[in-house]
Amino acid sequence: MDAKKRFLINVKKLKDNNPIIEISRYKLIINIKNHVERVIKEYTQCINRREIHNIFLRYLFLQIANGKTKYDPVLPYKGNNYVQLEKDIKTLIIPKQPDKCQEIIDKLDLCNLCNKAVIQLINNIQQLSNISYELEKNTLINTIEFKILNHKVFINKKNYKKLSKRATDDVIYCLLLRYKMLNMNTYSLSVPPKIMSMLQDEFQIEFELFGSPMNSYMKHFCSIFGDLEKHFGSYGSFFDLTITKGNFEANPPFDNEIIKLTINKLCDTLNNSTKPILIFLIIPGWERDNRYGNYEGLELLIKNEHLVTTQTKLRKYKHQYYDYNYNVYINACDTYVFILQNDASLQLMNPMIIDKKMKKIIKAWLDS
Ligand SMILES: C[S@@+](CC[C@H](N)C(=O)[O-])C[C@H]1O[C@@H](n2cnc3c(N)ncnc32)[C@H](O)[C@@H]1O
Repeated sequence: MDAKKRFLINVKKLKDNNPIIEISRYKLIINIKNHVERVIKEYTQCINRREIHNIFLRYLFLQIANGKTKYDPVLPYKGNNYVQLEKDIKTLIIPKQPDKCQEIIDKLDLCNLCNKAVIQLINNIQQLSNISYELEKNTLINTIEFKILNHKVFINKKNYKKLSKRATDDVIYCLLLRYKMLNMNTYSLSVPPKIMSMLQDEFQIEFELFGSPMNSYMKHFCSIFGDLEKHFGSYGSFFDLTITKGNFEANPPFDNEIIKLTINKLCDTLNNSTKPILIFLIIPGWERDNRYGNYEGLELLIKNEHLVTTQTKLRKYKHQYYDYNYNVYINACDTYVFILQNDASLQLMNPMIIDKKMKKIIKAWLDS
């Protein structure tokens, strides 16, 4: 059956891509990232580049979640939601001088810089689309290297095999460059394949609400860059999706503001739906770690406890996530696992059965 009918969802129309435009976007993003790094380094030396890039990434994730990428799929236009940025500045940059937060936000000037970059890119799009290019491809020991002009990207052979079944090398090049420009080609914490397979068997889950072409196990998934990732089967951003029926897995990015928005949307959906919906939700168990600010997502779940059929907490060193980029298992942090259901779903599968299935899955995760 058509997936759109099976899951009863809506998908926004998505745009298309070209490697030369992607390279141009890459340069604009690198300039903004360098600026962010310079400003943050004026205030603290006690932060590494990776953490700085993650601050920028969390800013972008939030603007995308707020639908600010209608002119460009990466660069937000009028992206002025600084809620997560404020938290990051206060906890990671100036924990002892919170009054300097606004000064740093003003100096970063992210909304304005991104607006300018979007306009520059849009003005040049026609010209960029007419530039011809040659894609070089080199096979190395464990990886494939692609190159256009001086811009190289790499992918491990296992992932390449998976992606090349669904799209051309040009599209794969764009995808890899996009993940590289945002430093998203490093670790991403995925529920291990064995557990995903059990979710399919035990709960008939076939849809990951947060993923990428590289890290999704299920055939159906949402991801952040729908314009490009539609070629690999993505339904676009979770925040543009309307769920009315079905069973889903959700492992949102480990980012407080995104987790809060996710839980808010899931609870609204479950509270207002009449057809059966079940969600297998995974979030980090970091409520005691004040580096990340208040854990409002968890507070929202507590308020909506009528939707929680069962829950458990896994300790950091007792379970692992899988990283598809490096093919390694990682002990990342404590993890909460929840099963959320609406009334219609409870009528199909009662809490005792759910609890039994959950215990089986958790045991397998702890044992692996
Ligand atoms: C923790 S990983 C999930 C990995 C794996 N798919 C899983 O479910 O275990 C979170 C993923 O969500 C993606 N993501 C970020 N924003 C998103 C959005 N608005 N919609 C869908 N996916 C998004 C990230 O790029 C990342 O690949």
